[in-house]
Amino acid sequence: MRTYIVGNWKLNFTVGEASIYLHKIMKSLPNYRDIQVIVAPPMMALQPLSLQVDRHKVKLCAQNAFYRDYGAFTGETSFSQLRGAVDYCLVGHSERRYIFHEDDKVIAKKVAAAIRNKITPILCIGETESERAFGETADVIRDQLASGLSEVSDDDVSKVIIAYEPVWAISSVKSAKLATPDEVAEVIKLIKTSLGDIYGAKVVDEIPVLFGGSVGPSNAGGYLTVPGVDGLLAGGASLILSEFVDIINVAKRVRS
Ligand code: PGA
Repeated sequence: MRTYIVGNWKLNFTVGEASIYLHKIMKSLPNYRDIQVIVAPPMMALQPLSLQVDRHKVKLCAQNAFYRDYGAFTGETSFSQLRGAVDYCLVGHSERRYIFHEDDKVIAKKVAAAIRNKITPILCIGETESERAFGETADVIRDQLASGLSEVSDDDVSKVIIAYEPVWAISSVKSAKLATPDEVAEVIKLIKTSLGDIYGAKVVDEIPVLFGGSVGPSNAGGYLTVPGVDGLLAGGASLILSEFVDIINVAKRVRS
């Protein structure tokens, strides 16, 4: 399986800045065939960047989209409108869940809409600090996974990427803590077991599982050596060219 390195730019960069930054990333990146580099710029930048990007080097990802294709949904952008412009879309990122109150039902519809529109959903799951403190991590992970995938058929499940992002480890969260590779390993194992329980053991190895939460060049290697981790989802570090490129170089070193 290829290694995925995803940069989530969140609400940063104007369209012009995003274009310059993408240009710099493409210039700095060696062409590593076994590493899939993906960036998730803000919505407004996706269309112009889709004309600029060299898809052999970098693929584009939306940060969010709406599950209905068209209609009276003021302010929304549909997966069908994104079709052709992006190859991936984040779904259920913790900022969507907790700031914009997206629930599991909405997230399940978004995962299905992405697949229907030939966009790979990156389904983000992860427990909050208090859920972990109360010993609820396993339940939360199992629930988010089962409900997020509830509208995906057995045939389509290998078109999904899962990203485990413990909410308490995301750099924008106050008093964020680094997850240890052992903590990550435990949850990744649980994700694989749950996927096996739902879809059968055969498909488990076909579904990439990424880790995210304060990922940077200094800890990327540790996370990438956790069994079952197929890539990383970086936020803050993906906004700094040298850090993002370093993470990709670490991935190349660790995985080859
Ligand atoms: P972070 O963000 O790397 O800044 O913690 C990750 C994310 O929110 O996807």
